[in-house]
Amino acid sequence: MNLYLTELIYQKDLIKAAKLLLSREVVAFPTETVYGLGASIFSEDAIRKIFTLKGRPSDNPLIAHIYDLAQVEKIARGVPKLFYKLAERFAPGPLTMIIPKAASISPLVSGGLDSIAIRMPGHEIALELLKLVEEPLVAPSANLSGKPSSTEASHVLEDFGGKIPAVVVGETSIGIESTVVSLLNGNVTIMRPGSISKEVLEEFLQEKILVHKPKQGEVVLSPGLKYRHYAPNAKVTVFFDLEEAKEYCKNPRKKQILCNGHLDGSLPLTSRSFYANLRMADRLGMEEVVIVCDANVQANAGLMNRIEKASGI
Ligand code: TXA
Ligand code: MG
Repeated sequence: MNLYLTELIYQKDLIKAAKLLLSREVVAFPTETVYGLGASIFSEDAIRKIFTLKGRPSDNPLIAHIYDLAQVEKIARGVPKLFYKLAERFAPGPLTMIIPKAASISPLVSGGLDSIAIRMPGHEIALELLKLVEEPLVAPSANLSGKPSSTEASHVLEDFGGKIPAVVVGETSIGIESTVVSLLNGNVTIMRPGSISKEVLEEFLQEKILVHKPKQGEVVLSPGLKYRHYAPNAKVTVFFDLEEAKEYCKNPRKKQILCNGHLDGSLPLTSRSFYANLRMADRLGMEEVVIVCDANVQANAGLMNRIEKASGI
C-alpha cells in the first residue's frame, strides 16, 4: 500500500479529484447519505484497493454511482421498466436499485454476483464529480469494515488518512446509508432500510413492498447483511424504556455516553447524528454507549436497523 499525504479537496477544485479517479486512485467523497470511498468502475486495481483499505470481504458487492440515467445501459442489462419508474420519482436520491449486471462489468464490483446495485446520489458535489469523471464510480461507505460509517471528512481521515490521496470535503445530511431495493424478482424487495421508507415506496407504487429478512442458514441475497456493522469499540446498550435506562445509568460503573434526547446531558438520537456520536464515544475513550429508543426512533426503520447492527441485539 502506498503512503499519501491525504489532501482535502474543496468543491472549487473538484477537477483534481476527478483527475485522481481517472488515474485509478481511490478518493473519498460526500453524498447526501454518508461518505463514499470512490473508484472508477472500470479500474480493477482501484477496486481491489477499496476492498483492501476497508478490510472488506470480497463477496460483499459495491454500489455503482451515476449522474445520468444514460449510464445505466452501460453497466446493466435488461433494465426493468420498474427501474425507470422508481428513478423518475427517487433519483437523484438515497435509493439504490439492484438489477441484472452487464457482462462487461468486472465481477469484483458485484462480489461475483450477476447483479449490480445502482444509485444516483442527490448531492451537488457528488453529482458534479461524477459528471467530471464521466465514468460510474463504485463507492462503499468510507469506513473500515465493521466500523460506523463516515458522515464528515474528519471521520474519513480517522480511518483512511495517509492511505488515500484525497478526501473531497462536503456535508452529508441524511446520515445513514441509502435504502437498497432488489428489482430482480419483478417486484420491489427492501434489502436494507434507509430514509426512503417502505411506506413511501408503497404509497408511490400502490402495492405491498416486501422486506428481506435473512433467516439463519438461508442463502444470503445481499452479502453485506451477514456481517456485523457500524459498531464502535464501546459497548452499545439499547433500552426501549426511559425509566429503565435512567435506573441503569444511576450508578455508572463505566464511562458512559447517552444517546436519546430526553435525559440531561444526553446526545440527540437521530439518523443524522448517529454515526458521529458512535465515533465521538470512541474518540473520548467511552466504554459504553447507552441508547434509548423512543417511539419516534422505533418508527424509523432505517435508524433502528443501524442501532440493532451496532449493538448486536
Ligand atoms: O448510501 C449509500 O448507499 C452509501 C453511499 C456512499 O452511496 N454506500 C453504501 O455502500 O452504503 P456499502 O458498500 O457500504 O453498502 C452497500 C450495500 C451492502 O450491504 C451490499 O451487500 C449491498 O449494498 N449490495 C451491493 N450490491 C449488491 C448486489 N448486487 N446484490 C445485493 N446486494 C448488494
Ligand atoms: Mg457500509
